[in-house]
Amino acid sequence: MDEGPTHMTGQHFRDLAGRVASLIERYWDGVDARPVRATVTPGALLEALPARAPEAGEASLDRCLADVERLVLPALTHWQSANFYAYFPSNISSPSVLGEFLSAGLGVQGMLWATSPAATELEMRVLDWLGGAIGLPDPFLFGTAGARASGGGVIQGTASDAALAALVAGRWRTLRSLPENARRAALPRLTAYTSTQAHSSILKAAMIAGLALGPEDHEQFRLVPVREDLSMDPAALESMLRADVARGLLPCFVSATLGTTSSTAIDPLDAVGGAIRGVCGSTPWLHVDAAHSGSACVCPEHRAMLRGIELADSFCFNPHKWLLTNFDCNCFWTRDRASLTGAMSVTPEYLRNAPSDAGAVVDYRDWHVPLGRRFRALKLWFVLRYYGLEGLRSHIRHGVRLAALFEELARSDARFEVAAERSLNLVCFRLSPRAGEAPEQTDARNRELLERLNATGRLYLSHTVLPGSGPAPARYVLRMAIGAVRTREEHVRAAWDLIAASAG
Ligand SMILES: Cc1ncc(COP(=O)(O)O)c(C=O)c1O
Repeated sequence: MDEGPTHMTGQHFRDLAGRVASLIERYWDGVDARPVRATVTPGALLEALPARAPEAGEASLDRCLADVERLVLPALTHWQSANFYAYFPSNISSPSVLGEFLSAGLGVQGMLWATSPAATELEMRVLDWLGGAIGLPDPFLFGTAGARASGGGVIQGTASDAALAALVAGRWRTLRSLPENARRAALPRLTAYTSTQAHSSILKAAMIAGLALGPEDHEQFRLVPVREDLSMDPAALESMLRADVARGLLPCFVSATLGTTSSTAIDPLDAVGGAIRGVCGSTPWLHVDAAHSGSACVCPEHRAMLRGIELADSFCFNPHKWLLTNFDCNCFWTRDRASLTGAMSVTPEYLRNAPSDAGAVVDYRDWHVPLGRRFRALKLWFVLRYYGLEGLRSHIRHGVRLAALFEELARSDARFEVAAERSLNLVCFRLSPRAGEAPEQTDARNRELLERLNATGRLYLSHTVLPGSGPAPARYVLRMAIGAVRTREEHVRAAWDLIAASAG
């Protein structure tokens, strides 16, 4: 009779947990010395791993841990390196890793309040803490109304998940504003809007929700032009909305960005919200994607970007980018829970229970696509309790200060130019055009510089292409995003020295 496999003893678990913690600590201690970008060739790790799963288990896990060091670590790109400046930071911290570990160990599944009340109520409380700390208005929080509030926050996996949730909520609300028998026929008339500089996840959400058949399909998905500072042009949005409404279309969703991916441009929320209200009233959903830059709102001096937030229906940012909380953790708040859950809620008999039926609890399964959900609030709670808001502000200010330093160094060298206004911790820069040089040649020199720099392994930067304003051509630029937990002034200075020495 099969009595099941042999599970690990408590003592063995504690020993191995200690060994894994030591491995992580050693990794952190040595990570800055590793080449930042993975140096392996495609398929190398795949070949080094056996083609089939082992038939017999390995009770000690000794060889498995050795394989982590021998095979896995060398095939990583080191996002936690002090010299990682590509994309946006992907912060972790010891308290968040411990919170994640605890969450895995408790192993609860918080799809309903009833399936683990603590998972829901800790998340509600922590989202209220964080929402208040970044300056969101009360309608976005649960507050004293708790589970009966009309707004509130939830942890989504990513900003992409949040965008899809917001879009379907906007679609639901717009359709509900029509007579029931007109809703199905209205589907092809729904339209969504975001700027040309918005993250691709907004377009992806439109594709998933059936508003775009592919990236090039703009029948129901509009890209609003940007102003010189690369923020959404509210006047252009207003004309698009007017033209669409005049054609009988139904705008249902606008996504504004606070901190665009390419250059951290900040869309003017008050003007964007004003344009929507002026043309369409309050039916279309205004979502605010602050995936990266929203973390900065823990500092009062960076909250000006929230001007107009009261006109928005949802707001999200990723503590897993710049707020010391390991992936995945997107915090999403809405002031219209009813439309969000209206768009998502299906209640089969097997999920019914008395507190849910009484409407006395929050059931987070209705706030996003997945039913099952991890206890992610634990890691955010650990981070908030360990650092306090003071510690979080200090982390943000440190990153912004280092970016200002880097910008100053780049501006002081006549061979370089800063290519976009810096709003926070990202500096877009490039080798300046030489006299008489064609734009493609300047781009090629910058592309080569980036490749030369990254090939040294001593740092890792990424690139983007920024649109030119008016007749000016688009520009290939290097992105220096500062905010990794280990980055200090000496790293930024060393990075600049390497860049300056490689410039030719
Ligand atoms: C502005 C913006 N929105 C959305 C995203 C996508 O984030 P996620 O990986 O959480 O979906 C990014 C990623 O960098 C981003 O910069």
